[in-house]
Amino acid sequence: MTQYKIPYLNLQHVNSPLQAAYQTAIVKVFQNSNYINGVYCADFEKAYADYTGTAYCSGLSNGLDALILSLKTLGVGVGDEVIVPAHTYIATWLAVTHVGATIVPVDCDPATYNIDTTLIEEKITPRTKCIIPVHLYGQPCNMDAIMAIANKHNLYVAEDNAQAHGATFKEQKTGSFGHINATSFYPGKNLGAIGDAGAITTNSADLYDKVTRLKNYGSSVKYQHTMLGGNNRLDELQAAFLNLKLPLLDGYNVERNRLAAIYNTQLAGVGDIVLPHTTLGATHVYHIYIIRSGRRNQLQEYLAANSVETLIHYPTAAYNQAAYAHLGIGEDTYPNAALVADTCLSLPVYPGLSDGDMEYIINIIKGFFT
Ligand SMILES: Cc1ncc(COP(=O)(O)O)c(C=O)c1O
Repeated sequence: MTQYKIPYLNLQHVNSPLQAAYQTAIVKVFQNSNYINGVYCADFEKAYADYTGTAYCSGLSNGLDALILSLKTLGVGVGDEVIVPAHTYIATWLAVTHVGATIVPVDCDPATYNIDTTLIEEKITPRTKCIIPVHLYGQPCNMDAIMAIANKHNLYVAEDNAQAHGATFKEQKTGSFGHINATSFYPGKNLGAIGDAGAITTNSADLYDKVTRLKNYGSSVKYQHTMLGGNNRLDELQAAFLNLKLPLLDGYNVERNRLAAIYNTQLAGVGDIVLPHTTLGATHVYHIYIIRSGRRNQLQEYLAANSVETLIHYPTAAYNQAAYAHLGIGEDTYPNAALVADTCLSLPVYPGLSDGDMEYIINIIKGFFT
């Protein structure tokens, strides 16, 4: 494995200062002996609901399960259509497939890379049941437009907030607009666990109750199973770790914004670079700092040769993945999604990246274009 001078992500910066606190939490969970659905899960669910400004949070095993359970809870299944962005992480699409519903992709906005809200209505049919907006890269979607369309056509909205913990649209937190909202606490996320974890948030007591039974074998009272559930519970240890990290999330996001502002200033007008654009009324949390360039592959190679690791989110749009070949969607069906896949490059952006690291990365990029 290549050792980079500057890796794309180094989680030690946020996790090392918490090591002693994590160890104390491990001992507490261990001594408590209540390893499943215990007090740490309950505490985190309460804290995360409060943080997002929602009435309820149900901790879950990971983000994909959170999306699947969101759709199941809304009663989305075989025969229903779900509108999703053509450009997203594949989990958004897989959730729809796993509940047996039909994926209806909508191309992305070439400026924000989120679902193009002006193209949603033409995709609505009598079978449409739900829209899944994804706040990709930490950038909120235009939730005014999405909620207006959903209300007009009597559709559910299930936000995919895996990449945007702490982001806001018109001062309201993402993950609080939809009827139900799914998120992931995968370690590299803005709020990341030390393993797999996820959650849903909602203002509906009914939806909360359904998810909470679905994730626990369809049961809220021991050995009474009122529905066909599974096991998708949040681990007590991960909840304890997340409890320690949640109060630090806003600080992490401030630092991500500071780093993004440095890139924005220093890379403006460099070569053919297209910088990120923030939705009007939104605060971005830069889960991923995306630039675009027609020379993306060469730029990535040049950065790697100079020991800077970058990633591509995502090199192949979901509809072009082999897993979705059976849908028979032509390669050029979603031109903006294809353009982003072909030209995007994710630069390192995480708390702990030093000003010296930033200067180094920026100079390499400037050097490439001169
Ligand atoms: C947009 C999006 N949705 C869903 C997921 C799935 O989350 P998890 O990996 O916790 O299952 C991810 C994770 O990378 C994601 O980025």
